Amino acid sequence: MKRDISIVVAITGASGSAYAIRLLQGLLKFNHTVDLVVSEAARQVMQHEIGIPFPSDTASESEWKSLIAGCLSDWNAKSWKLKPLETAQLAGSLRVHHSLDFSAGIASGSSETRGMVICPCSTGTLSAVSSGASANLIHRAADVHLKERRRLILVPRETPLSRITLTNMLTATDAGAVVLPAMPGYYHRPGDIADLIDFVVARICDQLQIKHDFSSRWGE
Ligand SMILES: Cc1cc2nc3c(=O)[nH]c(=O)nc-3n(C[C@H](O)[C@H](O)[C@H](O)COP(=O)(O)O)c2cc1C
Repeated sequence: MKRDISIVVAITGASGSAYAIRLLQGLLKFNHTVDLVVSEAARQVMQHEIGIPFPSDTASESEWKSLIAGCLSDWNAKSWKLKPLETAQLAGSLRVHHSLDFSAGIASGSSETRGMVICPCSTGTLSAVSSGASANLIHRAADVHLKERRRLILVPRETPLSRITLTNMLTATDAGAVVLPAMPGYYHRPGDIADLIDFVVARICDQLQIKHDFSSRWGE
């Protein structure tokens, strides 16, 4: 069954683009509709971490899906132990928006969504979200999610944390966001990098209250 009300995914320029790709794989595999926005800095980080240029925002849905299905395994199949997916396995719909397209539906509270995830979330985007700046579509959509009292999950990756960043995390939490740092646990005894990535992505899916098969739960 197609799940038409979308989940917004924003990728920003913090390290950890693999988390975003795995999240997109999971959402599309379980047939969710995704509105995707990628910041300019995220494109640079992805090029560095995953080794391939991301398609332009005007690329077709199938070009994007083919990249999302294969890029992690193409790049690091042996060391990261991520199994490739077939593009056809990504059954959900994907809409990609330019990060400055303020006319996109997700820039308005009248557009229905199931929630938004910023993954990974740079300290710069965290700052913009916690101060209500709407300098790009990612900040604006996050502001919309907060004002509409919808789920907003921020996945920062930085260490150590400055007082400014800690304060911004608290402000965002007080405004209703969930701050879910990219901090994998080790109690599930990860065997490889894929296990570490999937641990974080599983916690994001739990927060979205959606079905996933990323990692087992404690006690299962
Ligand atoms: C390779 C690379 C790694 C980076 N890693 C981080 C990081 O882990 N956390 C972070 O907050 N910023 C990181 N940055 C810096 C951000 O990309 C930069 O602050 C940028 O302005 C964020 O813009 P955005 O929030 O619009 O994506 C990194 C930059 C590069 C090039």
